[in-house]
Amino acid sequence: MKILLTGSRGFIGSHLRARLPHGIDLLECDDYEPRVHGHGARSPEVFWQTRSGDIPPEALEEIDVVIHLGAQVGVADSMLAPARYVYGNTADTFRLFENLKRSGARPRIVVASSMSVYGDPRTKDPITEDHPVRPSSIYGLTKFDQEALALLYGDILEAPVAALRFFNVYGEGQALSNPYTGVLAIFASALLRGEAPTVFEDGEQTRDFVYVGDVANAILLAALDSEMTGVFNVSTGVATSIKDIATSLATALETPILPDITHEKRPGDIRHCVGNSERLRSFGWEPRTFEEGLARYVRGLRSNVAAPSDLEAYLAQVDP
Ligand code: UD1
Repeated sequence: MKILLTGSRGFIGSHLRARLPHGIDLLECDDYEPRVHGHGARSPEVFWQTRSGDIPPEALEEIDVVIHLGAQVGVADSMLAPARYVYGNTADTFRLFENLKRSGARPRIVVASSMSVYGDPRTKDPITEDHPVRPSSIYGLTKFDQEALALLYGDILEAPVAALRFFNVYGEGQALSNPYTGVLAIFASALLRGEAPTVFEDGEQTRDFVYVGDVANAILLAALDSEMTGVFNVSTGVATSIKDIATSLATALETPILPDITHEKRPGDIRHCVGNSERLRSFGWEPRTFEEGLARYVRGLRSNVAAPSDLEAYLAQVDP
């Protein structure tokens, strides 16, 4: 089986590679975005050190599965530099699927979408995939574009498509140096420097934190199970407050530093977002508890895993 994996060297892509069954012929694509990878982090095994849209049709002819994780990531940044997201997410995804069409291949397609397509769900309750889509950021809009393009080209190519809406993903290898990364990595960076994490609002806002290894398992399931088509929330259904995140992480890291609660809202932030994942669970997917995921994350931090490039060696030693 031949798989094209875009974003193969990123946070989620690296966890996925560690789980791929032996014998898979993997074609990797990663543009080595400096904010995630730093400068100079290049692997000779990555055939396409380029953007997803640049892969020529000839290279796609024999592909059985496309897993499209490659994207520009960063909600706040997308409002400052929207063009980067429109070109990097929408246009590149369009070019990837157009090249796929030209190649004649009819692979199974798995695309990484995001809870950000829902915008502000305006409810504390877990939302299902039928909840209205109304992105509140350029990032969310372009993630929806990626999802919609995958579904459209799936229809054109008569290829099965699964679009996975990731909620707040955390775990080993989430870049500590990236200012646009998720809250756990931002809090971990502060605590490891001996500083108080900055909590916006009153800290009672909630999110649905899903461990990266479980996200990788969901992708693998979608890539290998031909019955899995349509849109899926990748979430736990459990709401955790940001204040609890700060204190749980400080306790787990044995750094008893209380968070600095600003009572100021970060522009564009939503109050609550929790996802119902019954649809994905009906295919046998089961996420870990936050406590289990956090323990794994902290073990990674203690082993100095601070970027996706640290993951390959680390995951080869532990049970991914
Ligand atoms: C957003 C996106 C999500 C994306 C994620 C990471 C939405 C709805 N979701 O999630 O798709 O995967 O970014 O790019 O657009 N916080 C603090 N202090 C900090 C940082 C964050 O208190 O230093 C709080 C925020 O105010 C927010 C929560 O933590 O309430 C989560 O923030 P973050 O990890 O950035 O993710 P989201 O904004 O939920």
